[in-house]
Order: sequence, then structure tokens, then C-alpha cells
Amino acid sequence: MKRFGVIPVLLALGLALPAGAVLAYEVPETIQIQRPEKNAALAQWVGPRVEFPHGFHAVRNACNKCHHKESDKDLGKFLSCTQCHSKDDPNDSTGFYLAWHNDSVHSCLGCHRKVRLEDAGKMPPLSCTNGCHKKQ
Ligand code: HEC
Ligand code: HEC
Ligand code: HEC
Repeated sequence: MKRFGVIPVLLALGLALPAGAVLAYEVPETIQIQRPEKNAALAQWVGPRVEFPHGFHAVRNACNKCHHKESDKDLGKFLSCTQCHSKDDPNDSTGFYLAWHNDSVHSCLGCHRKVRLEDAGKMPPLSCTNGCHKKQ
């Protein structure tokens, strides 16, 4: 049984590459980030998955802004975050919850908060249920 993982909905994104360039790796367009099956939900309103517009982010940021364990040499074999960040403890700095919610720019909420403070023109979501954990 698959304990955790991602469901890449649409593979291969239309990246704007110079003519003749070869896309050496795949960039999933949309990813459903799934809570590891055994992890307890932290709140009653949190559904089992969050839909993440991955391609939207990948064309605007360097890959290793989020994939912080990857280097150029790894292109093409990116590990999912959940492969390492799967622990249930919400206070564990390498657990599942904090990978998405800590203060660092590697995490969803950390980066969204920073962008809100520094770039008035951008409005990445901060709201739990209206932003990421939409009612399912
Ligand atoms: C804003 C953060 C962010 C950026 C930028 C980003 N990714 Fe991701 N990527 C993620 C997250 C989050 C996942 C889902 C991992 C999970 O669910 O465990 C993911 C998943 C993936 C996966 C699927 C991994 C698997 O096997 O499950 C690939 C491949 C990938 N990214 C490649 C890239 C490439 C290549 C780039 C740069 C062009 C990139 N990503 C940029 C956050 C990002
Ligand atoms: C190969 C295992 C591995 C993968 C894959 C991985 N991480 Fe991490 N992550 C760690 C470890 C170990 C730490 C503890 C600090 C360190 O060693 O960098 C960490 C720390 C973090 C932190 C807190 C500290 C910091 O530097 O920001 C965040 C947030 C984070 N990871 C998010 C992510 C996200 C998001 C992804 C996927 C896009 C990801 N991680 C992929 C192993 C991993
Ligand atoms: C490195 C910074 C960064 C990280 C990490 C990041 N985001 Fe974002 N996110 C942004 C920015 C910037 C925007 C665009 C805001 C704008 O242009 O108004 C955005 C927009 C979004 C949007 C709205 C997209 C739309 O169509 O308007 C969603 C949903 C989102 N992010 C979810 C996530 C999730 C889930 C994660 C973690 C898996 C994540 N983001 C990680 C920077 C980040």
C-alpha cells in the first residue's frame, strides 16, 4: 500500500525555453500534496490533500528554492518532499507539518508570508480554508 506520495496530475509543463533547448526533466503542472495515510489530521477541517499549482511556482522560482536538497546534478530525479518529511509530530522540524508551515522560504507559508511583506503587488494565499485547504 502506498503510504504517502504525490499525484502528478499533468506532466511536462510548457516552459518557455530557448529554441532548440531540450527539457531534461519533467515539471509536474499540478500536484496533490497528500498527508501520509497514518498521520493524524491536525484540525477537523483539514482535508487529506492540498492542490498545489507546481508549474506556476516552478516557472517563477529556482527549483532548489523549495527542493532544498537538490543540486543541478540531480535534475531529472527530484525526490518528493514527503519522502523525507513524513513524520507525524507537528513540532518536529523535519516532520510533515512544518515542511509546509515553518518560517523558512522553503515552506509554503514561510515564503507566502515573506512575499506579502516584501512585494505589495503579489498576493499569495495565507488563509487556511480559502487558500490551500479548500473544503473538499
Ligand atoms: C515553490 C516550491 C517549488 C518549486 C519552485 C519547485 N518545486 Fe517541484 N515540488 C514542490 C513540491 C511541494 C512538490 C511535492 C512534493 C511532495 O508532495 O512530497 C514537488 C514535486 C516535484 C516533483 C515530483 C517528485 C516526485 O517524484 O514525487 C518533481 C519531478 C519536481 N517537483 C520538479 C521540480 C523542478 C524540475 C523544479 C524547477 C524547474 C521544481 N520542481 C520547482 C515544490 C516546488
Ligand atoms: C532528502 C531528504 C529531504 C527532501 C527530499 C526534502 N527535505 Fe526538507 N529537510 C530535510 C532535512 C534533513 C531538514 C533539516 C535541516 C537540513 O538538514 O537541511 C529539512 C529541513 C526543511 C525545512 C526547515 C529548514 C529550512 O532550511 O527551511 C523546510 C521548510 C523543508 N525542509 C521543506 C522541504 C520541502 C518543501 C521539500 C520538497 C520541495 C523538502 N523539504 C525536501 C530533508 C529533506
Ligand atoms: C519561494 C516562495 C513560494 C513557495 C515556497 C510557495 N509559494 Fe505559493 N506562491 C508564491 C507566489 C510569489 C505566488 C503568487 C502570488 C501572486 O502573484 O499574487 C504564489 C501563489 C500561490 C497560490 C495561488 C496561485 C494562483 O493561481 O493565484 C497557491 C494556491 C499557492 N501559492 C500554494 C502554495 C503551496 C501549497 C506551496 C507549498 C507546497 C507554495 N505555494 C509554496 C510563492 C511561493
